[in-house]
Amino acid sequence: MANQKNQSEMPNGHLHELFVDELRDVLGAEKQLLKGLKKLSQHATNETLKMAFDEHYAQTEQQIERLKEVFSTIGMTARAKKCKAMEGLLGEADEIIESFEPGQVLDAALISAAQKVEHYEIASYGCLVTYASLMEHTEAQDLLQATLDEEKETDIKLTDIAMTEVNVAA
Ligand SMILES: [Fe+2]
Repeated sequence: MANQKNQSEMPNGHLHELFVDELRDVLGAEKQLLKGLKKLSQHATNETLKMAFDEHYAQTEQQIERLKEVFSTIGMTARAKKCKAMEGLLGEADEIIESFEPGQVLDAALISAAQKVEHYEIASYGCLVTYASLMEHTEAQDLLQATLDEEKETDIKLTDIAMTEVNVAA
């Protein structure tokens, strides 16, 4: 794999190729998610939930920019690859949308679908933060940690909406 930094110059350089591959995967995942979040928002009935999806859409756009910055901190051009996991998760969200009428139960199902996405992203960014730390890519690590924190906050927010608004009997 082409890389501009000599792998022997950094600690744990054996992780470099894996790091770049995971960065491309998560960049692809975020781009695919933009489309997915639009759909989730369109089919949500609860206003708080709709707003949470819309906010996360804007946040995802920023996270994409942040990922491009991460690539540039290691002297590489940002390139995405198709994320098969995100494709699968969003495919399941589509099935849910087809299976339930708009309303409380669909909203609960949309939260579940979105939380599965968040957990995938938390795992991805968590690993990327670890790799960046081991290779002492400090700048990249800080950027990735910022996104990891946002993904965790989103997950907590979704649980909160489920507990206080959507999953409780009207
Ligand atoms: Fe994200």
